[in-house]
Amino acid sequence: SRLKASWVRTLFNVGQYRRQATCSYNSYEFFRPDNEEAMKIRKACAVAALQDVCEYITREQGQVVVFDATNTTQDRREVILNFAKENGYKVFFVESICDDPDIIAENIKQVKLSSPDYAGCDKEEAVADFLKRIECYTMTYVPLDDTKDRNLSYIKIFNVGSRYLVNRVQDHIQSRIVYYLMNIHVTPRSIYLCRHGESELNLVGRIGGDSGLSSRGAKFASTLGTYMRGQCISDLKVWTSHMKRTIQTAEALGVQYEQWKALNEIDAGVCEEMTYEEIQEHFPEEFALRDQDKYRYRYPKGESYEDLVQRLEPVIMELERQENVLVICHQAVMRCLLAYFLDKSANELPYLKCPLHTVLKLTPVAYGCKVESVFLNIEAVNTHRDKPVNVDVDRDPAEALETVPEHI
Ligand SMILES: *[C@@H]1O[C@H](CO)[C@@H](O)[C@H](O)[C@H]1NC(C)=O
Repeated sequence: SRLKASWVRTLFNVGQYRRQATCSYNSYEFFRPDNEEAMKIRKACAVAALQDVCEYITREQGQVVVFDATNTTQDRREVILNFAKENGYKVFFVESICDDPDIIAENIKQVKLSSPDYAGCDKEEAVADFLKRIECYTMTYVPLDDTKDRNLSYIKIFNVGSRYLVNRVQDHIQSRIVYYLMNIHVTPRSIYLCRHGESELNLVGRIGGDSGLSSRGAKFASTLGTYMRGQCISDLKVWTSHMKRTIQTAEALGVQYEQWKALNEIDAGVCEEMTYEEIQEHFPEEFALRDQDKYRYRYPKGESYEDLVQRLEPVIMELERQENVLVICHQAVMRCLLAYFLDKSANELPYLKCPLHTVLKLTPVAYGCKVESVFLNIEAVNTHRDKPVNVDVDRDPAEALETVPEHI
């Protein structure tokens, strides 16, 4: 899959194993190399995590596991390499090296203070403790070595991306991982996601098409301009699709914008511009099949959500690279983008709620994304159709239409 969820989610975090194995965190003393009792626990946790990783790789054939080599010891890397060799897997190591005191201090503040280890702890004390912990790591950590490890595939990232060292990229997926790691950044910013203003076709309950805005849609567009100006962002980028309704929405902002064809709404093929009632009437079986597996279902001569996720990959990569961006898009497209940033599964994705005239402000924070939902107080039709209870191909029309939102 092309979703971030399936390739950069932290699946196994040794820190969590450690927290489960011990009652509560006291201080950096736990990480001292001469603390034999603690070392035993840490080693057992590392082994347990590695076993789980190995089991996971064996179970999920074809999945890629990226191994974070930062703060791991040589023998842990050996275990991974031996397992990979025995089972015919390739390993790609990622090592993040940071020696800039300002970046370290910022990272401790942004990430470590919210760690369960420091819950309820005094801020200054927590920072001092974590700095001591880093000293402990430094004593045992064996970094990837230019000469000794020259046969391994890895990327070393220096000071969160000011320099990279890439060694022995073996295949397409590894080069994609490198490309991805070189595009992400940690500069604070927000991504604003919204749909176009309510369109003429929205009003009459028709999907797709390329109609212009309704009068309420136009009102939303100008209110969106006021809202965005209130955010006081000097370097805001505005992106739209190639469709009239997103362009008309962006025009009301009075700022430069960029059009992306990749942001166009899902192509409903033969069902374009139909109401759900008409789809049920003309293609009842298709309608049921879509309800059975909305993520993978492809409209005849159109697209599926899965296709859309693939089409959006360059948009997502560019969103990772950029700072503040407002994306004016469409219901299905917004669901895909939202699923990416919130790590939603393929099953949840097609049912994510993305109402009209509502801006979702996403702000990356440690290990996730903060979401603020801002309804701009302009009425609009509801276009969200939940999954009906009965998804059989021979269901009654009434059952198929049970969850269709109201329209004119
Ligand atoms: C790297 O691989 C080559 C060829 O297989 C081998 O001869 C060499 O000893 C290896 N070097 C290291 C440092 O492992």
